[in-house]
Amino acid sequence: MTTHAPRVFSGMQPTGNLTLGNYLGALVNFVALQEREEFERLYCVVDLHAITTFQEPATLTQATREVAAAYIASGLDPDRSILFNQSRVSAHAELGWIFTCVARMGWLNRMTQFKEKAGKNRENASVGLFSYPTLMAADILAYRATHVPVGEDQKQHLELTRDIAQKFNNDFGRPDFFPLPEPLIQPETARIMSLRNGENKMSKSDPSDMSRINLTDGADLIAQKIRKAKTDPEPLPSEPEGLAGRPEAQNLVGIFAALSKVSVADVLAEHGGQGFGAFKPALADLTVASVAPIGEAMRRLLEAPDEIDSILADGAERAAALARPVLREVYDTLGLTGGGSA
Ligand code: TYM
Repeated sequence: MTTHAPRVFSGMQPTGNLTLGNYLGALVNFVALQEREEFERLYCVVDLHAITTFQEPATLTQATREVAAAYIASGLDPDRSILFNQSRVSAHAELGWIFTCVARMGWLNRMTQFKEKAGKNRENASVGLFSYPTLMAADILAYRATHVPVGEDQKQHLELTRDIAQKFNNDFGRPDFFPLPEPLIQPETARIMSLRNGENKMSKSDPSDMSRINLTDGADLIAQKIRKAKTDPEPLPSEPEGLAGRPEAQNLVGIFAALSKVSVADVLAEHGGQGFGAFKPALADLTVASVAPIGEAMRRLLEAPDEIDSILADGAERAAALARPVLREVYDTLGLTGGGSA
């Protein structure tokens, strides 16, 4: 039984445009958790994770503000959730190093995301890309967070976080020092797929911009991307079972259901029997109505970068105040007397 206060932590990388996948898979849930009074919430822009692959410095600064703007434009309120960027709170890097010494090579060797991201160029990948999940564990555990809203692709990293927490607790004889955080994954939106190939995840790193909806896309572009989305020639089924083996149809119906906040069964009860010629315009209208206002709000917020920076600075102070006592205890536990600046 954990004795830890319910606390939510999650983050997103500032490595390019956020997509409808980030939005439906994670951000919508971040916002929904704001209504749950029992949780304290921290939402981070993980700029230290971004540099595991090369980032142009000026682009990184701007991309960090853009993710912060997307958080706020989607409904996160800096008064109700702590919004900040990772590099402003030194506890992440400090605890990240300590966890690099707790995690085992074998654990990290199993991470599928490293294999995907490093690809054939493994020998040339940064050491940071390999040890990425130890920093992620530090993000979460520096706050003793108990719940982590994410999409499906982060599940394995969360399992590793639990392994690190458990090993730390065991190695230093401190049962329950760190909680074993739970992933919060919404099954319906855990994996939003590419518009060009229903077998691949929608991703900001896909070379084709037509494969994704970016939160900053304008109405015309959003409609065009939906119109051109890959489909099959069959009409939509009337029951969810009829979507089996039809990944593109399943993805588009799933997006429709998520944006209109109804079940897939309800979408099919209404649109079953329709061809994509009829369904796509309805989906395009819905996506434009949901996403375009977020992009507009982001653009307005980004006109005042100083305000965004001051929200992040304020959030970082509040975050650091929560992490400081945890880090102090970690240093003491390890016998690193007097160490640490967090
Ligand atoms: P990142 O920046 O790749 O993605 C941010 C969040 O968006 C989710 N996501 C998706 N969900 C559904 N369908 C998709 N196509 C899709 N694409 C992305 C991701 O699952 C994620 O929840 N390692 C993390 C960032 C991170 C973090 C953390 C998360 C760093 N520290 C601590 C939670 C807690 C990442 O790269 O997410």
